[in-house]
Amino acid sequence: MDYYLLLYTTILYPIIYIFPAYAANGAPVLFGRGSPLDRKKKINGKRIFGDNKTVRGLVASLICGIIVGLIEFPFFPYMLPISVLLAVGANVGDLLGSFMKRQANEQIGRGVPILDQYGFFVAAILLAAPLGHLPNIYGIAFLVALTGILHVLTNRGAHLLRLKKVPW
Ligand code: CTP
Ligand code: MG
Repeated sequence: MDYYLLLYTTILYPIIYIFPAYAANGAPVLFGRGSPLDRKKKINGKRIFGDNKTVRGLVASLICGIIVGLIEFPFFPYMLPISVLLAVGANVGDLLGSFMKRQANEQIGRGVPILDQYGFFVAAILLAAPLGHLPNIYGIAFLVALTGILHVLTNRGAHLLRLKKVPW
């Protein structure tokens, strides 16, 4: 197969595809603060999501994810509806992760390997998958690696910039 086509299908296209989910996952770190989504309500005596999941964070996340979809739209029209599902999915995964952590009495912001790095990613892809246009299996494998690396780097960066209390 042509070298450039291989580079495109396994690296460039997967990044274009997943970008709305990355934007949706990163936006709350910059814009999220204020009232918590769960309004401090509890389930089984435990906070549903905790103070770190905010209304502003969720709204910023959906907006940023869809903005990426709008930027990609002229080149990849199908990415607009896909970006909506990726943004919604990223938040479903993130909130589900926090819910599971709170139920398991994990402290707010404390790290749980795999769940923290891949919760948003898996949920985003599962929700968007029915619309098709997924990267091929090598592209998905590349994204799994990229997501793990980026998560470590961006969270440490955000911690250094004092945007985040903990480095994960
Ligand atoms: N954030 C937010 N609203 C959201 C999601 C995230 O305001 N819906 C902000 C919070 O400031 C949070 C930061 O983005 O601290 C990073 O998000 P994340 O790592 O997902 O949350 P954690 O702080 O690790 O909390 P948890 O233990 O619930 O995962
Ligand atoms: Mg976290």
